[in-house]
Amino acid sequence: MEKIVSLCKRRGFVYQGSEIYDGLAGVYDFGPRGVELLNNIKRSWWNANVYQKENYYGLDAGMFKKPRVWEASGHTSGFSDPLAECKKCNTRIRVDKVLGAIGITADEKMSEEDINKLFDAHRAEIACEKCGAHDFSRARKFNLLVKSNLGDFTSSESEPVYLPGEACQGIYLDYKNIVDTMQPKMPFGVAQIGKAFRNEISPRNFLFRCREFEQADTQLFIKPNENKEAYEQIKKDRWNWYLSIGIKEKNLRWHQHENLVFYAKDAWDIEYNYPWGFDELEGIHDRTDYDLSQHMKFSGTDLRYIDPETTEKYIPWILETSVGVGRIFLAVIADAYHEDELGGETRVVLQLSPQLAPVKAAVFPLLKNKPELVAKAREVYAALKKQIPQIAWDDNGNIGKRYRRQDEIGTPFCITIDFDTLGEKPELLDTVTLRNRDTGTQERMAIKDLANYIQQAIAQ
Ligand code: GAP
Repeated sequence: MEKIVSLCKRRGFVYQGSEIYDGLAGVYDFGPRGVELLNNIKRSWWNANVYQKENYYGLDAGMFKKPRVWEASGHTSGFSDPLAECKKCNTRIRVDKVLGAIGITADEKMSEEDINKLFDAHRAEIACEKCGAHDFSRARKFNLLVKSNLGDFTSSESEPVYLPGEACQGIYLDYKNIVDTMQPKMPFGVAQIGKAFRNEISPRNFLFRCREFEQADTQLFIKPNENKEAYEQIKKDRWNWYLSIGIKEKNLRWHQHENLVFYAKDAWDIEYNYPWGFDELEGIHDRTDYDLSQHMKFSGTDLRYIDPETTEKYIPWILETSVGVGRIFLAVIADAYHEDELGGETRVVLQLSPQLAPVKAAVFPLLKNKPELVAKAREVYAALKKQIPQIAWDDNGNIGKRYRRQDEIGTPFCITIDFDTLGEKPELLDTVTLRNRDTGTQERMAIKDLANYIQQAIAQ
């Protein structure tokens, strides 16, 4: 994990939020390489969940919502984690997680009474990570919603407008708009990538548990009780998408929830084998008609779907897939991270799939002090960039150093313009060396064939 965090910082993938002010816990910034990788992940997810599906619609809902939305959804009353405080130094702990760390199965959905029973039975084994004391308060439910003062110009105690605790609520609020404007037939889906904020008690494990993060969600609206087959299909699709972006199948597994969150009838997680072990990557939930029923009750708006053929009226059930984009990002980097030996030297290489790599190819002049080589390399670079925007230029240090740098950020191809490109050996005029990241092998390729070759690799 330390190596991954260090590489992410060193190579411009991820920075701690507010770092020059000593950092803000649970908030991260994606740097120049990170934002490219993040966007490539989101593009692939959008392609799989909107473009490649029939009857799925994209959405980008506003973040702020009327306060009653979070009452209707159950978040003001039921969205909490068990918190306890060290009586000596006031350090806060998430009780289910510290119990989990000593091998006791507990989770955030347990009642206050049940988790306190477990906590009391194991208090002696749990030391405060800051001061070492074994003197904690009782566990109490701590609500995770983040409040804002949007629209409150009086500083009075008016009802707070919350930041979204889960992005998917935007989909439920626009469900009726989508039905009215797009006239979808059942079943139909809505896909959205949106921000979520949670007052996590102990943000940790880098991008895994943050206070601000992005969720990529799909909600499939179905006829009541037609959930079984569709649920299995969605689970299959989501599993296969991870394989399609290059995640190794051995690092994925299924986990079914025993204690269900307040809205779910059935819930499965896809877990990834993170550096600390298997942990939740994505949740796939059968939410029945809970969400639309609640919003219908609280808003007074009729959210029933009218079947255009039979005129039958019903509140659709919902099957949800929800994943933190940062958790995918971390899984992708962890899966791609390798240390190997090449040409007698140890190297770090990110074996990212070319479709996700932030830079698709880097162009080098063999020597940076030979104007004729630099001019030709600049020509190749400019022409390639017109067709494939994510092309990098590098003329810093010797070729070996440039390869190492590109290996560390996962660039699949390096292109070197040398004297043969200029026609030193006439039969090699207008050809370059193309070096493969994973094998380190080099081949000679005509400049005119480069774009096509790289595009084919990215498309896979
Ligand atoms: N709409 C359903 C929902 O929000 P969830 O299981 O609480 O369900 C869904 O969250 C996904 O969001 C999780 O599987 C995880 O990938 C991501 N996620 C949840 N909390 C997170 C956090 N604090 N930091 C980063 N990602 C988080």
